[in-house]
Amino acid sequence: MKILVLNGSPRPRGNTAKMAAAFRKAAEEAGHEVNVVDVCRKIISGCLACEYCHGKGYGQCIQKDDMQEIYGYLQDANMLILASPIYYHGISGQLKCAIDRFYSALYPAAPG
Ligand SMILES: Cc1cc2nc3c(=O)[nH]c(=O)nc-3n(C[C@H](O)[C@H](O)[C@H](O)COP(=O)(O)O)c2cc1C
Repeated sequence: MKILVLNGSPRPRGNTAKMAAAFRKAAEEAGHEVNVVDVCRKIISGCLACEYCHGKGYGQCIQKDDMQEIYGYLQDANMLILASPIYYHGISGQLKCAIDRFYSALYPAAPG
């Protein structure tokens, strides 16, 4: 199985990174392929709610930032793990930006 892990912590040696690393080790030992993406090391803007993706964009986001790399991984993945520290009773803002940008990927691909 291809597993995508989005790590929402900005701390490279923090608790979330350690948990993601432990998960990766166990999953790889069990024969799975794991990609861990540190979203805080990426340039990922928030969703603009412009609806380009659900219109003439046919599922493509109008913003061409590092989210493009994550869309590729998402397409391939059989499982998605969201890993985040708790920030004020929620997930980190950086991970929330990435999740909001999933919006475009929910749209069917262009016809033909
Ligand atoms: C901006 C910010 C907000 C936080 N809010 C909470 C919170 O609401 N509840 C909580 O239990 N811990 C909170 N924490 C503590 C972190 O969730 C905790 O230290 C976590 O283990 C950090 O993960 P990391 O080492 O992967 O960065 C907050 C930390 C920061 C920096």
